[in-house]
Amino acid sequence: MSHKLDWIETELNNLREQGLFNTIRALNSPQGAWLEVDGRRVLNLCSNNYLGLANHPRLKDAARAALDRLGIGPAAVRSIAGTTSLHLELERKLAEFKKVEAALTFQSGFNANIAVIPALVGKGDVIFSDQLNHASIIDGCRLSRADIVAYAHNDVDDLRRKIADTKEYGRRLIISDGVFSMDGDIAPLPELYAVAEEHDILLMVDDAHGEGVLGHGGRGIVDHFELHGKVDIEVGTMSKAFGVVGGMVAGKQLLIDWLKQRARPFLFSSAMTIPDTAACLEAVNLLAESTELVDRLWANAETFKNGMKALGFNTGATQTPIVPVMLGEAPLAQQFSRQLFEEGVFAMAIGFPTVPKGKARIRVMNSAAHSPADLETALAAFERVGKALGVI
Ligand SMILES: Cc1ncc(COP(=O)(O)O)c(C=O)c1O
Repeated sequence: MSHKLDWIETELNNLREQGLFNTIRALNSPQGAWLEVDGRRVLNLCSNNYLGLANHPRLKDAARAALDRLGIGPAAVRSIAGTTSLHLELERKLAEFKKVEAALTFQSGFNANIAVIPALVGKGDVIFSDQLNHASIIDGCRLSRADIVAYAHNDVDDLRRKIADTKEYGRRLIISDGVFSMDGDIAPLPELYAVAEEHDILLMVDDAHGEGVLGHGGRGIVDHFELHGKVDIEVGTMSKAFGVVGGMVAGKQLLIDWLKQRARPFLFSSAMTIPDTAACLEAVNLLAESTELVDRLWANAETFKNGMKALGFNTGATQTPIVPVMLGEAPLAQQFSRQLFEEGVFAMAIGFPTVPKGKARIRVMNSAAHSPADLETALAAFERVGKALGVI
């Protein structure tokens, strides 16, 4: 007899038949330059641990000390059970670091997006959204019930056309990722700002992959372009370069005051845990003290990119430590990834529908955690597999 969940079995089998079923590898080590994956020690070129903070002694010590002082969980949403001084201190430090009036933390970057977008626009309003924006931006836009107008990726002329073509709306909002995670290219924020200014439209950037990476000492895309005070809403995450977990919105005090009244993931979901919050605070302290880790990240990325180009690989349009190694068809990218793993190098293949058909790639995430010897190991493995598969 059939069961009401049988359709899931059918869908899962379809995914398996199409080679799209995602099997998640099990780790038995902290995040770092090397991982123990499915029982094997492999060089890690997959994770967003840009600065190597995910297992940093200072972050761990800070988390332990806070745990002893304040416990673990927040026990309710902040607006009901109160908020810890630790959360407030993190928000004050984040605002100082990013040179904005105020910041508000969320449980994740995903939540920050679904919090802030519906709090700012709704029915009768319009959002202009880069066509390659992250899923959490797309979901935030959908939740808002504003009309969504997608513009061609990083194409400011298309954005201008789309704005000119739209009829009268109430509030208007332009949203772009800061760094696009599949190609590693950077949004043309000064041009987006010019358009937003010209038309008096709110401007929001999601700097998930720019936080701790771009700008002086990792202060993000707004600092990179020296646009302080000009971007209305900065969304960020503490799950990538900061090495922990959690999201943030940074901007004017007015914006933050409003989010505390209206942002649903703030009002109806408990805050980041105490150890997470303390570790994030220590990450900001560390970045504010020295640019060393950010400098090392960029130097490593430069070495890797130059090495790959010298070997004859196509590294796409990247401007950041994210390096797409363009391979074309998805089966080749998957085969490449499997053979790299056999060589002791863990790097993910990414294909359709995450990227367009024919644009499958291995995405390499550089990190300050990698030593010069690690980079040589990576390049040598790419050379061997690239030659074996006839890519170079
Ligand atoms: C642009 C962008 N926004 C938001 C997120 C979500 O961040 P988090 O993992 O903190 O939810 C990501 C993570 O992949 C991202 O790339």
